[in-house]
Amino acid sequence: MQNTNTSLSSLIPEAERDFAACANINDLEQAKAKYLGKSGALTEAMKGLGKLSNEERPAAGAAINVVKQAVEAALKVRRDAILLAEQEKQLAGESLDVTLPARGQGKGGLHPVSLTLARVESLFHSIGFDVAEGPEIESDFYNFTALNIPDNHPARAMHDTFYVDAADGSLDYVLRTHTSPVQVHYMQDAMKNKTDMPLKIIAPGRVYRVDSDATHSPMFHQVEGLWVDQNISFANLKGVVQDFLQRFFERDDLQVRFRPSFFPFTEPSAEMDMSWNGGWLEIGGCGMVHPEVFKHVGIDAEKYRGFAFGLGIERLTMLRYGVNDLRHFFNNDLRFLQQFGR
Ligand code: FA5
Repeated sequence: MQNTNTSLSSLIPEAERDFAACANINDLEQAKAKYLGKSGALTEAMKGLGKLSNEERPAAGAAINVVKQAVEAALKVRRDAILLAEQEKQLAGESLDVTLPARGQGKGGLHPVSLTLARVESLFHSIGFDVAEGPEIESDFYNFTALNIPDNHPARAMHDTFYVDAADGSLDYVLRTHTSPVQVHYMQDAMKNKTDMPLKIIAPGRVYRVDSDATHSPMFHQVEGLWVDQNISFANLKGVVQDFLQRFFERDDLQVRFRPSFFPFTEPSAEMDMSWNGGWLEIGGCGMVHPEVFKHVGIDAEKYRGFAFGLGIERLTMLRYGVNDLRHFFNNDLRFLQQFGR
């Protein structure tokens, strides 16, 4: 027994030497196996206990345990030391060089469509137009009926409409297909609140149509214009639109052409084209407010006249910046968007 104990306790310095020689955790695991693994020296010694007599067994077992604990402790000391050294090495490799120049902060900028909207608002503001807003989810009444587009009227087919499913299955709500319903909201509210004439607003905002190609997007922006007073004429409409476009494009020689057209909510109606690179480009629709629309909002059509127009904001933006595909505006490609920083 004495002999066994001596050879057992010699395992302690032997293990310490072996562990100390290990440079990493892998090596340490190998070294551990020699003592504590399945056929390690201490595991074998434990197995040998079965051969001893009942009297000898407790003392022998206790002696093995003492050695085992000492070997385990040595293992832990070495493992902690290796892990600490590895961590220090990693931290040293990751240290920051505070003397390097800073990366700088990317400067944000406004989206080109937002730049156009701001410019449109400021130009119209300077000639006395207020800015009005309306909902993007619009009732069928405001988007169509009040604008003199009754149910089953073929003009509804001109707008490829996104319908909103109502809980009761009805199709009474739509994503507004144009900004013209804001005219109706504004005139109704003005009548209710007995607002003094003239009513003079623009209504910029998002509109939606089932439409997608290089010059049409399912979501786009329009700006509506409305001026109602006693003596408003088509001449005022021409003057306001021409003045706006010349200032927007900073070109005094810019021409505007009015082509007879049809909108149910204006009479007469026209498409507006502007001169561009020797040709004409359509930029919106316009006309004199239809008496039916005045009737829907309670304005006396005998006494008042009004003009209205609707311009496509993306179209204006494409022309101003020379963009040839409208889809660039909505692809969120930074290489495109960064060109418009303020
Ligand atoms: C209208 O939406 C009428 N509400 C305009 C109006 C207002 C007429 C007031 C009379 C009085 P239109 O469908 O033509 O008209 O659209 C007006 C402009 O919106 C077009 O000229 C075009 O510039 C732009 N537009 C139309 N559809 C799209 C689209 N899918 N993507 C981008 N721009 C579009």
